[in-house]
Amino acid sequence: MANGQVEVYLGYGDPAPICDLATQNPHTFYIGIDLGVKPLIQLPNVQFRRTDFVRGLNTVEAGTVDRVVSELAFGHYGPVKGPCKWDEAYNLEAGWLIRSRLKPEKELYLVMMEEYVTRMIILLRSLSFRLSHKAVPKEARRTSWMKELIVNQDEELEEIAGIKLI
Ligand SMILES: C[S@@+](CC[C@H](N)C(=O)[O-])C[C@H]1O[C@@H](n2cnc3c(N)ncnc32)[C@H](O)[C@@H]1O
Repeated sequence: MANGQVEVYLGYGDPAPICDLATQNPHTFYIGIDLGVKPLIQLPNVQFRRTDFVRGLNTVEAGTVDRVVSELAFGHYGPVKGPCKWDEAYNLEAGWLIRSRLKPEKELYLVMMEEYVTRMIILLRSLSFRLSHKAVPKEARRTSWMKELIVNQDEELEEIAGIKLI
């Protein structure tokens, strides 16, 4: 593994953007976890794991990750392929693993459908995550019903009521 930063992408969907990032940032190590098809391209600083969030996170060493990114994936699905649904038990297990895999003071970045945001905030609070930023609307390419959440392990907690879902 590279000596630099480690980033985990949960439910990445299309592997191309991760491969682009890996090419641009050769000292960052990228781990992509998705139930979908494993890409053919191989780069020294990317590993794609074709599995679900929980199994995939279990293969990542605790306390080694600088950033976990999940856009429209974590929180939206259960452990197997299927339609969008909130699966509390599965999300708790995956959330706990995310927390334990992140280094202290490091970040979970989520883009979520609006209907899941409040539940996710409550779940992450129960795992002692700290919200370091208010939820903000994702610009440009995202539609207004998708929200962005940046969650830090150790920053001061904001009240849920203070989170603006625009
Ligand atoms: C709506 S797509 C989002 C893809 C991409 N992140 C984006 O924003 O365009 C959801 C992705 O999550 C993956 N997925 C769904 N449930 C999963 C699970 N339990 N574990 C791992 N990947 C999962 C799917 O295979 C799919 O690629």
